[in-house]
Amino acid sequence: LTTAATALALAVTAQTAFAACDDGEIVIKFAHVTNTDKHPKGIAASLLEKRVNEEMNGVACMEVFPNSTLYDDDKVLEAMLQGDVQLAAPSLSKFETFTKQFRIYDLPFMFKNMEAVDAFQSSDAGQKMMSSMEKRGLAGLAFWHNGLKQFSANKPLIMPEDAKGLKFRVQPSDVLVAQMEALGASPQKMAFSEVYGALQQGVVDGQENTWSNVLGQKYYEVQDGTTETNHGVLDYLVVASVDWLDSLKPEVREQFLTILSEVTAERNAAINEVDMEARQGVLDAGGVIRELTPEQREAWVTVMKPVWEKFTDDVGQDNIDAAQAINA
Ligand code: LMR
Repeated sequence: LTTAATALALAVTAQTAFAACDDGEIVIKFAHVTNTDKHPKGIAASLLEKRVNEEMNGVACMEVFPNSTLYDDDKVLEAMLQGDVQLAAPSLSKFETFTKQFRIYDLPFMFKNMEAVDAFQSSDAGQKMMSSMEKRGLAGLAFWHNGLKQFSANKPLIMPEDAKGLKFRVQPSDVLVAQMEALGASPQKMAFSEVYGALQQGVVDGQENTWSNVLGQKYYEVQDGTTETNHGVLDYLVVASVDWLDSLKPEVREQFLTILSEVTAERNAAINEVDMEARQGVLDAGGVIRELTPEQREAWVTVMKPVWEKFTDDVGQDNIDAAQAINA
């Protein structure tokens, strides 16, 4: 099957499964904000939904709500603690009010590729971070990959000075605010679902995101072009509430967590492929992609990397050292 055919098959199965949620089954609502097609999170969520509904039929039933149809990321974690939603996979930038440790992922140029991100997350340091919010009621279950971020704006961005004075949408992360300030730009925190409209109406001039989000949200339609900076990481944590997990019978919890870990391994292994397909999708749709020479890219590194200093205490020098040892 082609990727598109698989995605379609998954979407159809998902809808059937949703309609077939039976009385007495544990309902697992999974809210996320991206599209489902050609998107790492969308594909992984649909696969998880399909497998839970097939393999846990009669016991549990999953309903996925993509595209911010149930909650924006700024509401979903509170909703989870209230028991209104059982599963979410916000980007690591969205956990600021729960833990400062994830700030390491927002620090520009911390990881050179997704293999380095994966290796760091699998390390003791990375695994410890996953359970860092249990005191606050949130259980980290798995890291899901997306990719490296690119910048786009309503004018060409080649040198860091080109971003000066422009307004950029950022995720709700103080690191990303500091990163844009280092460029002399004005950062504006904004929900994902509002970004396209804000770019279209000129509320902001630019944004940063991965190829799958540039494609899925069609930012190329309302931006001059996207510059391939690969300057930061966008990755996800699949989370549930500690209370909800504890409420499951041990064998049910184990079956669910096993399916989740298999889906995680399968989809994380395909990340570079999905990322490159999305990049190609932007080109095929008529989007402009600008590549940088090594010298041009180095100029962005020079301006943005000093941001690390401001957040070393939040993140921990030992974590930075561990990440850099892997990145070497
Ligand atoms: C964003 O807000 O830009 C991303 O976190 C959206 C996502 O989930 O990929």
